[in-house]
Amino acid sequence: MHVPVLFDEVMRALQPRPGGRYLDCTVGNGGHAAGLLERCAPDGLVLGFDADPAAIVRVRACIPDERLILHPCWLDEAPTRARQLGFAPVDGVLVDLGLSANQLEDPARGFSFMREGPLDMRFDPTAGISAAEWLDTTDLATLARVLREYGEVPNAMHVAQAIWRARPLRSTSQLRDVVADIIKPRSRRIHPATQVFQALRIAVNDELRRLREALPRLIDLLAEGGRIAVIAFHSLEDRIVKETFRHESMPQAYSPGFGKANASPPRLKLLTRRPIMPSPEEIAVNPRARSARLRVAERIGG
Ligand SMILES: C[S@@+](CC[C@H](N)C(=O)[O-])C[C@H]1O[C@@H](n2cnc3c(N)ncnc32)[C@H](O)[C@@H]1O
Repeated sequence: MHVPVLFDEVMRALQPRPGGRYLDCTVGNGGHAAGLLERCAPDGLVLGFDADPAAIVRVRACIPDERLILHPCWLDEAPTRARQLGFAPVDGVLVDLGLSANQLEDPARGFSFMREGPLDMRFDPTAGISAAEWLDTTDLATLARVLREYGEVPNAMHVAQAIWRARPLRSTSQLRDVVADIIKPRSRRIHPATQVFQALRIAVNDELRRLREALPRLIDLLAEGGRIAVIAFHSLEDRIVKETFRHESMPQAYSPGFGKANASPPRLKLLTRRPIMPSPEEIAVNPRARSARLRVAERIGG
């Protein structure tokens, strides 16, 4: 069962109110969406997107409320799709990145090295190529770069060569065993395959590009005073959120990744100088929350 992360903090951040319109770009299991829906009753609307068509079907079955509109959609396509559906401007946007517990725990999805299954890792299993096919068709230098940049895997070229030589890899356990042979565990808590699986998942789903492209266009969708809340689960995602929010709130300052400073007026007010993290109590109940980082900003100007 997926427990929504930082639930109270997200509700406090987005301040859903009756009659408001809220976009949940990563509806997952519908936990946050249900909270938004309840708080914007009786006439508010929630538009829920997710790249995973199974998530959309599951949430529809659990929340049969016509004020919740659901569509399969990737994050970078969300702003266009919302406009096509006439769902703009919005009073709040939520992006809760990463995986749901359902995805992680379903062996058929291939996300977890602890579950024997096909090496798939696609959020949308009906399109694109699986992790196994990605490994078959990627060159060694790209594989090493992905492991280094997306997984911060030490000795990435060495690990990439071992994976490269072992191809074709078809199952999660085959990849896990290759990695376990080549990387010595650095801690007893974290299996060496963790970072490799994370890196491949990010590459297969092109997650960082989608996030980078989506954020400024999601900010476009916000009504004045509307808020955007983003939960990231690793430093690469969090850096993109932090830099985008900084750039949008201080365009006159230099922000890495955004080139030169410029004189355009700020569109955002930062509401979180530092990310909000889960409390020890939340982590005790839901250990998956431990790496969550929530950043929130408010649209200013027209
Ligand atoms: C952590 S779960 C969201 C949980 C949800 N907030 C809840 O309360 O149940 C993340 C969801 O985002 C989806 N997702 C991740 N990256 C995505 C992307 N780039 N575009 C669309 N959906 C994405 C995943 O398929 C997954 O269902």
